[in-house]
Amino acid sequence: MSDTTKRERVLTGDTPTGRLHLGHWVGSLENRVNMQDEYECYFLLANMHAFTTRAEQPAEIRQDTIEIVKDWLAAGIDPERSCVVLQTEVPAISEMTWFFAMLTGYGRLMRNPTIKTEIEVKGLGDSYSFGFLMYAVGQIADILAFTPKYIPVGEDQIPHIELCREAARRFNQIYCGVDPKTEDADYVEAGAVFPIPEAMVGRVSRLIGTDGVNKMSKSLNNSIFLSDTPKQVQKKVNKIFTGRQTPTEPGDTSNALFQFVDAFMDDADRVAELKARYETGDNIGDGEVKQELGAAINAMLDPMRERRAKYDAPGGDDLVIDIIRDGTKRANETAEETLWRAKEAMGLDFYRRTLG
Ligand code: TRP
Repeated sequence: MSDTTKRERVLTGDTPTGRLHLGHWVGSLENRVNMQDEYECYFLLANMHAFTTRAEQPAEIRQDTIEIVKDWLAAGIDPERSCVVLQTEVPAISEMTWFFAMLTGYGRLMRNPTIKTEIEVKGLGDSYSFGFLMYAVGQIADILAFTPKYIPVGEDQIPHIELCREAARRFNQIYCGVDPKTEDADYVEAGAVFPIPEAMVGRVSRLIGTDGVNKMSKSLNNSIFLSDTPKQVQKKVNKIFTGRQTPTEPGDTSNALFQFVDAFMDDADRVAELKARYETGDNIGDGEVKQELGAAINAMLDPMRERRAKYDAPGGDDLVIDIIRDGTKRANETAEETLWRAKEAMGLDFYRRTLG
């Protein structure tokens, strides 16, 4: 932070709903950790969004919020370099949500496939709240308040990012006089307040679960969590379903087990060797592959376990809250500045405020 060169920004967030798993890691978290070297990063705790489907569970949401920060810190998010941001303490986000609500069509929102899937999967029927729909507009403000270049997210978030890009273009066209024919990359040069941000998806966009059928998902009981113990990890790996019966049966290296091998074993020569033997049924049992895979995953998780320890120890929650306070303070400086520039564009710049 002491460097004077201005770095481009990255913003992303998670709704605190429970522990993070390997699917989150390869889908986005790993990208986020790596981007900290090069970018000014903002990692948002979307705790307001958690209320949009669980309004009656404030205590759980509070706990989940603390826990997800521990997952982030364990994974390698560095609070010295990056801001951990608490959504409910960034007033500019709430205010900008209004601005973008006016620029987002209701019908357009309802056609958002992520919203549709969520209504289905969570069994919301037609009883979802107004706030539930609002979260997709809120997410536009979450992002644009920080004028990021990139948004590292899982593949399921792409429709939301697309809504955000549309709203940004619209704002810039209406309030900053940017010609609608302008290329996305040229918006800022054309006078835009909001650069058009881009999603960035991780190296494995849909990690399979240990059931060998569905995408890894907390609610399907097929997840390996970043916070699992070495024993739990090996036990879950041992359960990965392949349907193969004997070590001499020619195996399919596109099965679930080898999807994990491809995602988590970095020794390319060893992987090639395992695959060759597996495909020909060269006396190699699933169990043997699973031992190596379990060891590789545990080797990856070990440094996370080490980093997590101090936050799990007594007083750990207070450390987390200090990190949130500090990151959110810095984030508010950025977001207030963006809000002011948006207000200037909208003719709402009657006078400049300062928050206490
Ligand atoms: N909707 C995202 C999720 O459920 C979380 C989120 C909130 C987010 N605000 C964001 C992601 C801004 C990226 C950018 O995972």
